Amino acid sequence: MENFTYCTPTKLIFGKGAIEQLPAALKPLGRKILLTYGGGSIRKIGLYDEVKRLLADFEVYELSGIEPNPKYTSSVLAGVKLCKEHGIDAVLAVGGGSVLDCSKAICAGALYDGEPWDLITYKVKAQKALPLVDVLTLAATGSEYDSACVISRTETNDKVGYLDEHLYPVASILDPRYTYSVSKKQTAAGAADAINHIMEQYFCEKHSALTDGMCEAAIKSLIKNAGIALREPENYDARGEFMVDCSLACNGILSIGNSPSGWPCHGMEHALSAYYDITHGEGLAVLTPRWMKHILSDRTMERFVSFGTHIFGIDSALPEQEIADRTIAATYALFESFGIPMHLRDVGIDETRLGEMAHHIAVNEGLDGAWAPLSEADILAILKASL
Ligand code: NZQ
Ligand code: ZN
Repeated sequence: MENFTYCTPTKLIFGKGAIEQLPAALKPLGRKILLTYGGGSIRKIGLYDEVKRLLADFEVYELSGIEPNPKYTSSVLAGVKLCKEHGIDAVLAVGGGSVLDCSKAICAGALYDGEPWDLITYKVKAQKALPLVDVLTLAATGSEYDSACVISRTETNDKVGYLDEHLYPVASILDPRYTYSVSKKQTAAGAADAINHIMEQYFCEKHSALTDGMCEAAIKSLIKNAGIALREPENYDARGEFMVDCSLACNGILSIGNSPSGWPCHGMEHALSAYYDITHGEGLAVLTPRWMKHILSDRTMERFVSFGTHIFGIDSALPEQEIADRTIAATYALFESFGIPMHLRDVGIDETRLGEMAHHIAVNEGLDGAWAPLSEADILAILKASL
């Protein structure tokens, strides 16, 4: 096992009516709240009115219109400006991963005198950040239980992951009923995202019976509950278990003591959504089986055999190569069964900028140091195979 320090200080408040605990969660943080949200889904489900009712005793400012793949120039800077102008005490994010991520960057930028992009790109280390509370409406990224945010800068085709211990939410409110209205497309993309988060931790050099078992249980739970949620969007238990799976999938607990993998599919996908503004989970679903095929070798074989036999029940008596081939095919079929488009062309990406993206990924993502190292040529081959 590798050495580790593990701490997730976020309080998860889960269940029907969990929202009633919002005022108590915010009260110790101050009176002036910046409420952040996206393009209007929270109004449609009545959550906006509910939140405003509960915030009656607070002084509330608002930042709305945060887009998927949240944008630095339009949203992060606008939020930082509001915080500085009004002396905001805490940020309340109500929405999916994009709203939460944008809000984390705002929390860091609000207490920094320089250009917030310097924090996001690690040129400067944040010394502090405003506290964040969130009400999650889409289960997928795990942003509600991790210290990461992913911010896009359209003008330079950058989509950057920024992790900092100051960015863990103080509290995350998880009521599965707020996810009933999530579309089939976003439910499927969320499932693919969370499954890939776990695969990024499972496919590595050093792992244990404990981490393998936790990862396998979480993926099986995601597969089962995504299937139910896609058929029955208002199934409380399925949406609930799915939500908790997603929270645990990205905060490091499932790979405690494992060696790092380099998160190669995420490194590649972030460029796809930076250049083409596609849905993150769909990009991952397209790339994952092609990446698997590309990195399969004698050295990596054991992980494929373990994954295929434990997740898909492939017969362990078969030759290893056949197990691995079936594992890759089963992974593809799983994402396809969720209704996800499985080719880059299906999400509006053609061959025009593949070379440029491969170069961008090779320069910015450090995947030559991944568990299964990827050169620029490897990345280009995976992108081409994904067309
Ligand atoms: O903007 P609104 O109107 O709220 O609509 C959103 C958006 O259009 C909608 N939605 C959210 N909750 C809904 C709902 N629609 C109906 N009912 C509800 N209850 O869904 C659409 C997508 O929302 P978004 O927040 O973009 O989705 P997701 O949660 O998948 O977040 C994706 C972003 O998170 C980043 C991704 O790269 C991407 O930018 N990630 C963040 C991570 C992290 N912080 O740890 C890790 C991930 O790997 C990922 O990179
Ligand atoms: Zn992801």
